[in-house]
Amino acid sequence: MALVKVEKLTEGAVLAEDVMDGNARLLLAKGQAIGDKQIRVLKMWGVFEVEVEGAGPAVESDLSGIDSEQMAIVGAQIKAAFGAVDIQHPTVKEVVRLSIEYRLSHGRPAQPPAAPPKPARQEPAKPSERSTDVAAKIERIDVKLPEVPSLVFELNEIISDPMSSSGAIGQVVNKSPSLTATLLRIVNSAFYGFRSKIDSISRAVTLIGSKEVSNLALGITIMETFRGIPKEIMDVASFLEHNLACGVVARILAAHSNMAHSEQLFVSGMLHDIGRLVLCNYFPEVFQQTLAEATGSGRSLLKAEQTVLGCTHALLGKKLLNKWKLPLALENNVFYHHQPSTSPSPESAAIIQMADMVVHGMGVGTSGEQIVPGFDAKAWERLNLPTSALRSLLKQSEHQIETFRDLLRKG
Ligand SMILES: [Fe+2]
Ligand SMILES: [Fe+2]
Repeated sequence: MALVKVEKLTEGAVLAEDVMDGNARLLLAKGQAIGDKQIRVLKMWGVFEVEVEGAGPAVESDLSGIDSEQMAIVGAQIKAAFGAVDIQHPTVKEVVRLSIEYRLSHGRPAQPPAAPPKPARQEPAKPSERSTDVAAKIERIDVKLPEVPSLVFELNEIISDPMSSSGAIGQVVNKSPSLTATLLRIVNSAFYGFRSKIDSISRAVTLIGSKEVSNLALGITIMETFRGIPKEIMDVASFLEHNLACGVVARILAAHSNMAHSEQLFVSGMLHDIGRLVLCNYFPEVFQQTLAEATGSGRSLLKAEQTVLGCTHALLGKKLLNKWKLPLALENNVFYHHQPSTSPSPESAAIIQMADMVVHGMGVGTSGEQIVPGFDAKAWERLNLPTSALRSLLKQSEHQIETFRDLLRKG
């Protein structure tokens, strides 16, 4: 089996794996012989590479022309990013390898991911400042959490009602011109790959489905709630990049694991670190304290949160989604994404954790965390996804992530 770029495919090659579109729908089945028509389909749907049987034509290395200095810089970045996980695990090893390739071929050495804002204090928090004051503040977050925005409430009603009509979704979404515009920009992007322009939400619902549109709308609306956080506290644009990229990777992993509701994994990925925005929004000084603790101790921000707050952003995210009565599956994926084995749905939470690791490796955006905080091998192995599949999954993700990054920059 070999991974071959579509432009290098020759007639008569046979697909060794199913080919899906960005929406996880089957385009061409495993075993299909390649001819002109199949190549046209692949190009039309923006598929970049496919797995074919046999050795395939020689693929030139993406890394040709990379000098040793760049290699050394990227090597050091990756070593720092994966310092807290077992890089001898075959899956982690593959992610590390693919991350190095990605960063080298996308010019990451010259453009490292934006560092989070410098914390005001560089010293780790003193024990006396932790448990009492901060714990009380965190308890008060419960009280302070905003009421559910009406748009989120209405979208949630639609998602939980299997009988909801495409007209109903259109009516809700159209109440917000900015949401409508963002959604239409996304459905008209290469992410979905439609050839003709989609100019209304009801048309989008017909083409990509009501669940897809309403989940996408839900994720965007929740993220927008926190747009106003000052840049000195958190670079929200970079945060959005990290979380959206995580959603993209999570959906691709879910589709390849034959999981139902891959669109829910997309939203879970989009929202997985939302608890950190809650912290930045209501307790910016406590967030600064967690950053200082991470810098001072050299450990992950996740561990620093546990030290300073006695809980992590995963719990804060859960509290928010619970207060807003969002689906329990979403709440669980967010709550357990750093400890998937303990989740009632370990496979889903493991997908979010893996997506997070992949996005850290690629260096796309940041949610304040500088290193991969952990990898739950036991939960991941439940998915039975072969390590050899990661290369093509990552390639598929790259194109979709680039699409979203373009949208965010224009937005
Ligand atoms: Fe997280
Ligand atoms: Fe994350």
